[in-house]
Amino acid sequence: MAQLVYFSSASGNTHRFIEKLGSPAFRIPRHKSEALPYVRAPFVLILPTYADGEGRGAVHSQVIRFLNDAPTRSFLKGVIASGNRNFGAYFAHAGDVVSKKCGVPLLYRFELAGTDTDLHRVQHGMTEFWKRQS
Ligand SMILES: Cc1cc2nc3c(=O)[nH]c(=O)nc-3n(C[C@H](O)[C@H](O)[C@H](O)COP(=O)(O)O)c2cc1C
Repeated sequence: MAQLVYFSSASGNTHRFIEKLGSPAFRIPRHKSEALPYVRAPFVLILPTYADGEGRGAVHSQVIRFLNDAPTRSFLKGVIASGNRNFGAYFAHAGDVVSKKCGVPLLYRFELAGTDTDLHRVQHGMTEFWKRQS
């Protein structure tokens, strides 16, 4: 079964996006002490960007921990990244990093908690994407 996995920090923008999306999704916890989701089916990762001014540290350490598990990583099929356009060239940069490192497509980028247009595009895009995957 296709699924979504996401990360969201205390500001909760990505969490709000996921809630509006209405699809079941596993959340990667914010704290190291909490268990990471156990995923053994194809999934798309939705992640925000937390870089410094030069693009470093874009991917949150908890997302790195999650993706460090090779069996988990083998089920990653695509990535959707969020951020803030104020960051210019590094807008949603975490998506570029994961896409390149894991060899999966960057499917979409959105700002903050996303607009209605973003939601519709992701809903439609996910349906089409999983159709093509199966
Ligand atoms: C310390 C920090 C660094 C950030 N760096 C970037 C960045 O390099 N590029 C970007 O597009 N957004 C950047 N952002 C914006 C966040 O990605 C954006 O606010 C996102 O919606 C946060 O999601 P969350 O509330 O679910 O954690 C940064 C935010 C913080 C707090």
